Amino acid sequence: MKGVILAGGLGSRLLPLTKITNKHLLPVYNKPMIFYPIRALINAGIRDILLVTGGNNAGDFLRLLGNGRDFDLKHMDYTYQDGEGGIADALKLAEYFAAGEKICVILGDNIIEKNFLNAVEDFKKQEKGAKIILKEVPDPERFGVPVFEGDKVLRIEEKPENPKSGYAVTGIYMFDNSVFDIAKKLKPSARGELEITDVNNVFIDRGDMTWDILEGWWTDAGTFESLHRAGKLVAKTGANKLG
Ligand code: G1P
Repeated sequence: MKGVILAGGLGSRLLPLTKITNKHLLPVYNKPMIFYPIRALINAGIRDILLVTGGNNAGDFLRLLGNGRDFDLKHMDYTYQDGEGGIADALKLAEYFAAGEKICVILGDNIIEKNFLNAVEDFKKQEKGAKIILKEVPDPERFGVPVFEGDKVLRIEEKPENPKSGYAVTGIYMFDNSVFDIAKKLKPSARGELEITDVNNVFIDRGDMTWDILEGWWTDAGTFESLHRAGKLVAKTGANKLG
């Protein structure tokens, strides 16, 4: 399976920190944020990685990461997202890289304590469709939230005022190649973006979605509060542990 890291966007919730750099280059404790999702993919057994970025500072990723030597990679792929079209818009740029294979997508501001190797192994055996990874959180209204009937996910609601479960859909997704056709047919949401939640809801409607629960802590790092929390968690317990 190939890996795609989405690290574009304007990082507007972190202004003025993101006025002169990309959110994913900001420090989380002792490393640039982007190091954590790269390591998370590698720990999940994924070494063929595409980084999608954009904005004025895209070149800095190349200077920082090169061909991934800090991670013992032989090669890294890069592509550039024009504008601010949202997560599902960035995903479209990965079609050529995926070349028909399944992909594992991770958002560049998602940081995890442990790893999701088991979910990747399960998805390799899944004939088709998609898999999402869920995590119980105290503030689900900030995220995509699954609506359950028993242990079946009926749909995902994006940032609902009244969350129907206590889970967040983390920014770790696995898709078969039909994701690109779905992304191409999407319409922008109220915030003017192509939403990953709309992509996932198509797979759910088709009956092709499975889900898993992430072990260990998980946080995003796209707001002042969550960036601060991410730094504290990494300092305290470390991230991306294999066990
Ligand atoms: C995005 C997704 C949301 C998901 C979250 C995970 O939110 O839209 O469904 O739960 O990432 O980090 P955003 O960071 O764009 O607000």
